[in-house]
This record gives sequence, C-alpha cells and structure tokens, in this order.
Amino acid sequence: MRAHTLMMLTGVVALTGAVALSSGQAAAPKAVTPQGLKPVSAFTAIADPTARSQALFVEAGKVIQHPRCMNCHPADRTPTQGMAMKPHNPPMKAGEAGHGVPGLPCLSCHHAKNVPAMGDNIRSVPGDPKWALAPIEMAWQGRSLGQICAQIKDPARNGGKTLAELHHHMAEDHLVGWGWNPGAGREPAPGDQKRFGELIKAWIDTGAACPA
Ligand code: HEC
Ligand code: HEC
Repeated sequence: MRAHTLMMLTGVVALTGAVALSSGQAAAPKAVTPQGLKPVSAFTAIADPTARSQALFVEAGKVIQHPRCMNCHPADRTPTQGMAMKPHNPPMKAGEAGHGVPGLPCLSCHHAKNVPAMGDNIRSVPGDPKWALAPIEMAWQGRSLGQICAQIKDPARNGGKTLAELHHHMAEDHLVGWGWNPGAGREPAPGDQKRFGELIKAWIDTGAACPA
C-alpha cells in the first residue's frame, strides 16, 4: 500500500518535472540574452555593405547549419537525427510530398508538440503541427553555406518566396521556431528566433550578399 502510494507520487513528480522543463525552456534566460548568436549591432563596424551582408549571413548560418535545421533539410529523402545527423531510426523515407510514405505518415509519431518519451524528461519525440521533410529543392545537407544562401534567395528553389517572405518565414514560422524549442534531450539552435530574424532582415537590407 505504502509502496504503491510512493510509486504514484514518483510518477506525478516525473510528470510535473517534464512539464516544468518544457515550459521552462521557453521562458529560460537564454531567450532574453541569446547565447551563441551575435546581434546585428556586432556588425555595424564593417563599413562595406557587401562585406557586412556576407558576415551577417555567416552569423545566421550558425542557425541554418545547426543539426536542428539540417536534420529536416537532407539531400536524399531520409530525415536525420541528433547532433551527429545519423539516419532516422526507425528507417524513414519522406515520400514525394515529405509527409511520409503511405501508411506511415510523419504525424503518426510526431505530434503537434514535443512529447516526453515514456513520461520522462530526458528524451522526447519532437513535434509541430507542420512536421514534414523539406522538399528536395530545399535540401541543405552536404552544401556549403554559400550554396545554401544562393538557393534560399532563388524563388525557383525556395517555394516562390520573395526576400520579404523569406524573412517572414525565418522570423515567424512556427516550425522554424521549433529549432529553439526542440524538446527534452535536444540542444536548441543558437540564439533565439527573434535575433535570427533580425540578422536575416539586416542581411536583406544590406543587399542579401552570399558568402563565397
Ligand atoms: C520537421 C522538419 C523541419 C525542421 C526541423 C526545419 N524545417 Fe525548414 N522546412 C521544412 C519544410 C517541410 C519546409 C517547406 C514547407 C514550408 O515552407 O513551410 C521548410 C522550408 C524552409 C524554408 C523555406 C525555403 C528554403 O529555401 O528552404 C526555410 C528558409 C527554412 N525551412 C528554414 C529552417 C530553419 C532556419 C530551421 C531551423 C531553425 C528549419 N527550417 C527547420 C521542414 C523543416
Ligand atoms: C515510427 C515513428 C516515426 C515516424 C513515422 C517518423 N518519425 Fe521522426 N522521429 C521519431 C522519434 C521517436 C524521434 C526521436 C528520436 C531521438 O531523438 O532519439 C524522431 C526524430 C526525428 C528527427 C530528429 C530531430 C532532431 O533534430 O534530432 C527528425 C528530423 C524527424 N524525426 C523527421 C521525421 C520526418 C520528416 C518523418 C516523416 C517523413 C518522420 N520523422 C517520421 C519517430 C518517427
């Protein structure tokens, strides 16, 4: 009887722990003082606009080339996982439209939000309402930052976006925002989405130049 009550208590503690962790992530000091990503003001000393634009994109590249983003922007139709970007386990093919193969859509495992795995707060299944693999023309893995830069500016390869729409996507899109709220057991992308959006805006305002 006593042991049973204890077990139930432990369960409750584990559960509230998981909730505290996921809500704590959004409000963590990290979001106020974004670590690991320089603000736009750090680049004002670069007088030449093209050089400044390139430097701004290199900084934004710390996010773009982070595994949280790259894992969903592979060059074949297989998502990758973790910091080492290993092939998705269980083996997964994204299908033509990126939502999974018939009978096994991404959303059968990935839900609208991150879900603690087995009720603990150590691991989680990542989630977002739009969870799907990026289309093949938006593949980033195996490409240089300069190549990624050229392709995200190109409406033929970025889903028909103008630069303003591209900025909006980077700064506001909920699925992009998942990169800073990746769930227990995953390192967030550097900085926060606000600072990342500001870097992209400043990059566009200085001519959207690509690094070599
Ligand atoms: C769960 C998978 C997933 C993750 C994680 C993800 N993306 Fe994407 N991304 C997509 C899909 C699907 C699309 C295409 C649909 C759309 O535009 O929303 C896309 C499109 C984009 C585009 C539009 C055009 C282009 O040229 O690629 C940008 C920019 C982008 N993602 C940036 C990011 C950034 C930055 C991150 C990390 C902070 C990220 N994505 C993380 C799946 C993902
Ligand atoms: C059978 C269940 C299942 C299906 C279907 C599935 N996934 Fe996953 N996926 C998982 C689990 C579980 C994890 C977490 C693994 C971990 O972090 O250890 C995961 C992790 C990921 C990650 C890694 C995130 C990161 O940054 O580490 C990506 C990306 C991903 N899945 C994309 C997809 C896409 C895209 C689809 C559909 C084409 C898909 N998954 C279908 C179970 C599934």
